[in-house]
Amino acid sequence: MIFLSPSILAANFTMLGEQVAAAQRGGADLLHIDVMDGHFVPNISIGFPVIKSLVNHFSIPLDVHLMISNPEKYATRFCDAGADYLTFHIETMKDPAPLIHEIRSRGVHPSLSLRPATPIEAVFPYLDIIDMVLVMTVEPGYGGQSLIPYTLDNVRALRAEADRRGLYDFKIEIDGGVRLENIAKTTQAGANVIVMGTAVFSEHDIPSAIDKLRKEAQRGAEMRG
Ligand code: DX5
Ligand code: ZN
Repeated sequence: MIFLSPSILAANFTMLGEQVAAAQRGGADLLHIDVMDGHFVPNISIGFPVIKSLVNHFSIPLDVHLMISNPEKYATRFCDAGADYLTFHIETMKDPAPLIHEIRSRGVHPSLSLRPATPIEAVFPYLDIIDMVLVMTVEPGYGGQSLIPYTLDNVRALRAEADRRGLYDFKIEIDGGVRLENIAKTTQAGANVIVMGTAVFSEHDIPSAIDKLRKEAQRGAEMRG
């Protein structure tokens, strides 16, 4: 199964509610929330107040992507604020296992992310205790960039490792630069949770954009067999 996770980073914040409602109508499976601290990445985005508003108005599961240093300082607050998936970056911690367990103990799916240049093997020791790996397909920090082709090798290597361990439905999320033109390649490589900011929220007809993206994503998954 393919999960589509539109990223509100590309939304028009003066009409966030309408745009999220349109994404839900279009069948979005998750809603991706990019949290940036101006330290781990050179940009500042959104945090608790936006998440709280979304939780109060929508039932769509929240896929929260922390691009922050010292995620252990804030992770439990994001769990309590209503995250369903909580991703933090492996580059930010020497030993991520205690935080992974803490997140799970709060009923939230723990997930690890890595920058394009971080060797994919860095997440292998944790595959049995996390529910997802978010493979960055651009340098984290900004929406609207182009997908870096070699990052799909990370996806292929991770899918092969998950299969080798019998983790056939393991969630591999990709984030950055996904468009209608390349989404099939990403699912063919083994990604099954797809984040898209620009490709969804810059479109006038959001439900129809999601529908087209899903068809292309399915086509890629079928090519993988
Ligand atoms: C980038 C963020 C992404 C971003 C993707 O640091 O993690 O989630 O919103 O945006 P697009 O799809 O426009 O590349
Ligand atoms: Zn993201």
